[in-house]
Amino acid sequence: GNNILSVSQFDRESIAKILQISAQMAPYASRQKRCHVLNGAILSNLFFEPSTRTRVSFGTAFNLLGGFVRETVGQENSSLSKGESLFDTAQVISGYSDVIAMRHPQMHSVEQFAQGSTVPVINGGDGANEHPTQALLDLFTIQSEMMHFNKGLDNLNIVLMGDLKHGRTVHSLSKLLSLYNNVKVTMVSPTALQMPDSVISSLSDAGHEVIITDTMAGNLSADVIYQTRIQQERFASKDEADLYRGHFSLNKDVYQKYCQENTVIMHPLPRDSRPEANELDIDLNDLDNLAIFRQAQNGVLVRMALFALTLGVENQLTQYEKPVNW
Ligand code: CP
Repeated sequence: GNNILSVSQFDRESIAKILQISAQMAPYASRQKRCHVLNGAILSNLFFEPSTRTRVSFGTAFNLLGGFVRETVGQENSSLSKGESLFDTAQVISGYSDVIAMRHPQMHSVEQFAQGSTVPVINGGDGANEHPTQALLDLFTIQSEMMHFNKGLDNLNIVLMGDLKHGRTVHSLSKLLSLYNNVKVTMVSPTALQMPDSVISSLSDAGHEVIITDTMAGNLSADVIYQTRIQQERFASKDEADLYRGHFSLNKDVYQKYCQENTVIMHPLPRDSRPEANELDIDLNDLDNLAIFRQAQNGVLVRMALFALTLGVENQLTQYEKPVNW
């Protein structure tokens, strides 16, 4: 069906189309034009784990296309807490919906859910496995940031840093990067939090240079430095997560020491702003190349494009343009 479950389902051509439609969504996202192509359609947003950006930008994207959004937030508010299966839940909710976006703490749970759904299902994050729509918005962000330096998605030097074991966004992003030419990826993390082998091999099997290190050294020569949060919710305890906090923090001093002048800083967010975490310091907030909030904003554009493509209305988007008159 038209599910979006993993980045593995995309190739360069399908991604180029998604990114192109995403760029065309900017006038709608900024409310300069309106679009009613999904007038009356219903999105069920099923979030069984906390979320700010993904949940709200899925909802906003759907609203901007003219649709309605139903929200389920937290396992405790759903009958999953009474032992109902994902399959049965999908059978029921898909009867109420035209499309479903779902986040769940278990790996592959969204795939399982999709087997019981009669409408398209979009993975908004399944445990430590994947976050495909985030990876697409990350790629869109890299493409738009690199345009300023006359670069595209080929020949890039990318540094991924932090909790690479549990960070599903970097798993999905690495797999997508493997589709481009001459990509070099440096993975900086504590040894215990290294990128899973299957993700590393998606890059190395495609002939890309992958450097795995637990030490920051020299100039990383990065086009992009992508920081991630210690995913405390995936550890056995807070104490265990605390063992890794404060490693590879990124602040202005570290940035100047290890990055190039124009290295673009990304982070899927949320960043952990507690002083002991300090993973991405607010002293970077005034840097032009801090792309984190542009990145979050791009989520609306990319999710609009994905809804249009998933529901097969991508060729009707422009005929619904209307000026905003208020
Ligand atoms: N980047 C991301 O997935 O953020 P949320 O957890 O707030 O949705």
